[in-house]
This record gives sequence, C-alpha cells and structure tokens, in this order.
Amino acid sequence: MAKRNADVVIVHAAELVTCAGPPEGVRGAALQRLETIADGALAIRDGRILAVGPTAAVSRRYVAPVTIDASGRLVSPGLVDPHSHLLYGGSRHEEYEAKVTQRAPARRMDGGIRYTVRKTAAASDAELLEQAYADLDTMLLHGTTTLEAKTGYGLERDAELRLLRLTAGLRHAVDVVPTLLALHVLPDAYADRRADYLAAAVGALEEASGLATYCDVSCDPLCFTFDECMQVGAAARAAGMKIRVHADQFGDAGGALAAARLHASAADHLDYASDAGLRAMAAAGTVATFLPGVTLHMCEMTPRFADGALADAEKPFMPLVVRRAIEAGVTVALSTDYNPGSCPTPSMQIVMALAARLFRLGYAEIWNMCTLNGARALDLAADRGSLEAGKRADIVVWNVPGHGMAINRFGVNLADTVIANGAVVVEGGRLKRGRARHRTSAPARRSRAALARM
Ligand code: NIG
Ligand code: FE
Repeated sequence: MAKRNADVVIVHAAELVTCAGPPEGVRGAALQRLETIADGALAIRDGRILAVGPTAAVSRRYVAPVTIDASGRLVSPGLVDPHSHLLYGGSRHEEYEAKVTQRAPARRMDGGIRYTVRKTAAASDAELLEQAYADLDTMLLHGTTTLEAKTGYGLERDAELRLLRLTAGLRHAVDVVPTLLALHVLPDAYADRRADYLAAAVGALEEASGLATYCDVSCDPLCFTFDECMQVGAAARAAGMKIRVHADQFGDAGGALAAARLHASAADHLDYASDAGLRAMAAAGTVATFLPGVTLHMCEMTPRFADGALADAEKPFMPLVVRRAIEAGVTVALSTDYNPGSCPTPSMQIVMALAARLFRLGYAEIWNMCTLNGARALDLAADRGSLEAGKRADIVVWNVPGHGMAINRFGVNLADTVIANGAVVVEGGRLKRGRARHRTSAPARRSRAALARM
C-alpha cells in the first residue's frame, strides 16, 4: 500500500495521551480515565491531525519531510487556558508583599482592580501589546495553545472597548479567544448611579459583539448582583454574544445559578457556589472553571466546607467545591485566570501542579480538565482539546516520559516542543524565530520593566 503524505510525523512517544472524549466534555467518573498509547505516534497535515496510534501503525501509512522522535517523552494535546485578563498595565507585587507580611491592611480585591485600571489607562497601546505578546510567548513556551483573553481593566465603556479592540487584533500562535468583561467592579464615579452604569454596559454590547466571542459578568458580593448580571447577560445574548460568568468568588451571590439561567458557556471561581447552583450548571451544560493559582496567590489554601466555613486541620479531606461540582455532574475545567492581582502566573503547568496539591485531583482528572474540558469551556471541543484524527494539530512534546510526572515535577518548564495549528513553534524549549507572532506589534517605547514601574 502506498504511503500517504503528511507534513509532520511524531513517532516513538514513550506515552501519548489523547485526552479523547465527547465534544460536551468529560464528566463524573469518566474524568478518571485517560487514553494513553505506548510507543505512540501521530501524523499531521494542513494544520490537522491525520492519524493517531502506535508508531508501527502510523509509520506504515504515513511519510513526512519532518519527523520528530519523541523517544522517552510524553506527547499530549496543547493546553487550553479558558480564563485570562491578558491586557493590563503595571504590577501588583508591592500589594502582594504588604499582604503576606501584613505590613499594611489588606486591600480588597476591588481596590486592587481599580489600581490596575489606573495603570492600564496610563499605558500606551504599544506598551500593552508588547507585554501581551511577551506573555503569549511565555504561555506558548509552557504548552498553552488556546487562550481566552478578557478585558476588565477599563471599566468605563471606551476604556473597555479599547482593550477589546487590542485583544481582538492579537495574532499569535496561541489562538486567542476574546471576551468583553462587561461587568467587573463598579467604578467609584458610579457609586450612587448603578443603573446608569448598567445602562452604559448594555450600550457597549453592540460594538463589542463584533469583536468578542463572549460577554462576561461578575456575579459576586464585591461586584454585581444576580439581577444586574441577568440584565446585562440577557442583553449580551440578544446582541449575539455567548456568556461567561465570574461567579461567587467571595460569597454566594447566586452566580452559578445566573450562569445556568443565561446558558453560559462557563462559570469561573465558584468558591462559594451553592449545590443548587452547581446542579443547575450541570443541567444547563455550563462548564465550571476552577483556578488553583488564585487559591494559592490569594492565600486561601485551607479547604472550605460547603457552607463556606473554613475546614480545620483535622478534616483536610472535606469535600471541596471542585469535588462537589464533579459529583453534581458538572463539566470541570482548570485555568490560570492570569492577571496582575489574583494570579500573576501565565503557566498552565503550575495550574496543573496546584490542582493536585490544593484541589486533591488525580492526574487523569487534571489532564482532562486542562485539554478537552478547557476547549469545551470555549465551545471548541469539537475542533481541539484532544489528539484525534480531524482535530486541530495543537500538540506538546514534554521533557518527561509520562503524564503523571508532568504534574508531580513542578516549578520548571517541562514543555520541549510545541506544535500550534500544525506548525512547530517551540523546539528544544525555545521559540522558533519568526514562528510565534504572526503580526508583531508596533515597537514599544518602554520595556516591561519600565511599564511595571509606571
Ligand atoms: O478574576 N472578579 C474577579 N476579578 C479578577 C481579579 C483580578 C484582580 O485582582 O485584579 C479575577 O480573579
Ligand atoms: Fe478573572
């Protein structure tokens, strides 16, 4: 039989994890299953996966000008990160030191956000883009191939639309899915005019709908109420946008329920989500995205009981909300929530490491949550998130031989080779020159260090 042409073949993977599953994502007990192929191989053509299987079978059928020998290495789908705030100015490292050393009264989250809003306003477009591209490079180097990127550090209509335009214009090997965060926190100027603020948020949706796939609203005691989120969420739906929700991070504001009612693609955070809210999400097909980097960086490592009270040291295995969500039948994903305040890491690898340690998830659960279920959180699971014939060729070759070691060994970058949309963009842990940024931004006048000092 004549061999078929491929662009690239990967052969002899010590272990190839496919993360294969249905486009609605993996739930319940199925999360603990992970399809692995020993001495695995795959063939790629025109940005798509042609075939996956044992090396003997794939190399019998395909020939390619580029062969990657993955001997001794793990091969997996590219990681999907479904929640980030990519564009922002300044840094909050001083706030963090003051918090951990308790040298200053802790700043509430909304105060931190307003600080970043001021720094973002002071940064030029070129500076914001330069930092965003540098962050996308870092994400790619760490194995992320699809990223949701939301606004949120504008708050006012024009400032939010500016961030959205910049986000929607990004062209990088990491595929960026733009979201307008229409309701984040109330700007001070609207303290006595909430209704005016909501009307302005609704007014921005028509323009935003041409730029963003999603509209996000924050349903939380520190942010907006259930009714306010329903109002803006429904308007966004009417404008043709899909919905995401920041839900119940600092208390149960009914965010999980709002997400389900709005048929949101995902609700994220959910620290205080009620069981009724989680059940409603399961029924509506809304993904729950959990953010262990936030749990770590906000110093909230102590497990919480269902009622929000803190678990004591003698009961470390009390059901965490992540486990309650899995048991309620919700599709669960993991994400960085990359932002300067609650989670300044762009690495999904550290998210995977923390998910095991803080959320007590198993390795298979974590892999499913960071690949196919992450894609499901972005309504992309039919297209990517697993190594299956026909899907987008987003692939990582790791510097460890198996999927468990990739989570157990933490604090160093374990990604060796990254293929995005069929192109080898990272090789030997380094970006291939000219491959990652499809269109570079205007040269920045100030460096990232200068930006942080502003
Ligand atoms: O997703 N409602 C929460 N918003 C952000 C917090 C960002 C910040 O502290 O700047 C979040 O965690
Ligand atoms: Fe967020």
